[in-house]
Amino acid sequence: MSNAEADPAHRPSSARIYDALLGGNHNFAADRAAAQQLLAVIPRAGEMARANRAFLHRAVRYLLDRGVHQFLDIGSGIPTVGNVHEIAQRVVPDARVIYVDIDPVAVAHSNDILHGNPNAAAIQADMRFPEAILHHPQVGSLLDLGQPVGLLLVSMLHFVPDDDAFTAVARLRAALPAGSYIVISHGVSETPADAAEDQITALYRRTDVSNAHGRSRAEILSFFGDATLVPPGLVWVPEWPRGGSGDPHDMAIVAAVGQLGASEPAAQG
Ligand SMILES: C[S@@+](CC[C@H](N)C(=O)[O-])C[C@H]1O[C@@H](n2cnc3c(N)ncnc32)[C@H](O)[C@@H]1O
Repeated sequence: MSNAEADPAHRPSSARIYDALLGGNHNFAADRAAAQQLLAVIPRAGEMARANRAFLHRAVRYLLDRGVHQFLDIGSGIPTVGNVHEIAQRVVPDARVIYVDIDPVAVAHSNDILHGNPNAAAIQADMRFPEAILHHPQVGSLLDLGQPVGLLLVSMLHFVPDDDAFTAVARLRAALPAGSYIVISHGVSETPADAAEDQITALYRRTDVSNAHGRSRAEILSFFGDATLVPPGLVWVPEWPRGGSGDPHDMAIVAAVGQLGASEPAAQG
């Protein structure tokens, strides 16, 4: 990373800012500076990133317990401790995982650590174009879309503008068979972090994503379509799945898991 690191004009990316918040080492000086600026306006951003990552781990284990052995992790980010394939293949050695990210650095590092792993791969794609993901040769060779899939959209949809995000998620849902699960965590509006919205928007405008904004709970729930939310529904990210006091603890991220084609009535958060 030395050439880019030496370049003061190097553009930060949302993936590498997140890696810096998590204390990872796949980031450049510009990413670390952006992470510091984010921490200045949201002092608990690092804690939120760790809570989000812990939610991802719990959700993957939850799906494994329910017999889901293949995962499509979109906006997967830079590999860090507890990647989806590590969690899944520890339990089910031939569990299959496709990582998708728009950031070439995230994809390159993912493919480095996946070298020699026949059941996992990373591809570079923009989720706003779901057909490119669904028809990607590696998706076709690793995932069986006739069997339940865990679709992971964890802490990434707030980087995707409205029209594109809702349309793309609906298309992805439609491609998955009954019994599949959708896992979403998302920045929610109407929190103390909203006070800093303009600064956050300005910060992310300098990155590879043009958009960074929380959505209302109703908007976040609409990403699930007619999927049935599993209990406890849509909750603050540290509170899934056990529930809790509903106290945000200054969190600005909510999370839920929904199952496609389930017959139980939906639990709403
Ligand atoms: C905050 S990170 C989340 C990483 C991981 N899902 C997690 O929760 O630990 C958000 C990721 O979404 C990716 N991303 C943003 N917009 C995207 C898009 N349109 N298509 C695919 N990936 C995108 C970013 O590059 C980044 O790696």
